[in-house]
Amino acid sequence: MEVLRTEELTKEYGYGENKVIALNRVSFSVEKGEFVTILGPSGSGKSTLLHLIGGVDKPTQGQVFIGGHSIYKMKNHDLTIFRRREIGQIYQFYNLIPVLDVKENISLPLLLDHKKVDRGRLQELLEILGLEERADHLPNELSGGQQQRVAIGRALISQPKLILADEPTGNLDQKNSLEIIKLFRELNEAYGQTILLITHDKKIANNSKRIIYIEDGRIIKDIKR
Ligand SMILES: Nc1ncnc2c1ncn2[C@@H]1O[C@H](COP(=O)(O)OP(=O)(O)O)[C@@H](O)[C@H]1O
Ligand SMILES: [Mg+2]
Repeated sequence: MEVLRTEELTKEYGYGENKVIALNRVSFSVEKGEFVTILGPSGSGKSTLLHLIGGVDKPTQGQVFIGGHSIYKMKNHDLTIFRRREIGQIYQFYNLIPVLDVKENISLPLLLDHKKVDRGRLQELLEILGLEERADHLPNELSGGQQQRVAIGRALISQPKLILADEPTGNLDQKNSLEIIKLFRELNEAYGQTILLITHDKKIANNSKRIIYIEDGRIIKDIKR
């Protein structure tokens, strides 16, 4: 089953002499249960691509389908709800709410959606993330790796169709980076979570079974291993 498809996705910034073509007719699709890495150097268009797929920004041309829904055809309000429920986003910086503790930060998408938090599900997530002992702690009482695990929990709580991660280990040391990548692999292998991760780091990319190489806003290779 197809979870994601982009069709001729193009993004231009600026006008005239200042025009930058950040993405140039990018088309690919991702099946349910895949763990795909987009690998490319700085400035190749990776973050632009993820913002478009996450519905944070709109393309100059082209379309994105998630679970068969064309996301730019949705009304703003509907897209906000769709994103909260179906797309889990993880960034280099954790963007946790400082006054909320670990379990509250993880539960936030459900609370914003006026949904009840399933205690069993929350407990299971805390265990997977290795955060049971930290459930009542505030973000500033956690290490960087732990804070990123909270952000991953927050992305997972709604059981989204797709996880999008933009350089999720970019702010971590090697040991914590490896732990976070191992966690992504576990989520993918044990729970069949579909993941699209972007990085400039080949070592990180080598943890996934499919690598899409991007350069100057274009896909240059798409390799399944
Ligand atoms: N808001 C913006 N305005 C103008 N140019 C931008 C903007 N965002 C990104 N770009 C340009 O688009 C290109 C791709 O950027 P980006 O998607 O951030 O690449 P990456 O994440 O691979 O480093 C770069 O040349 C960058 O300078
Ligand atoms: Mg980037």
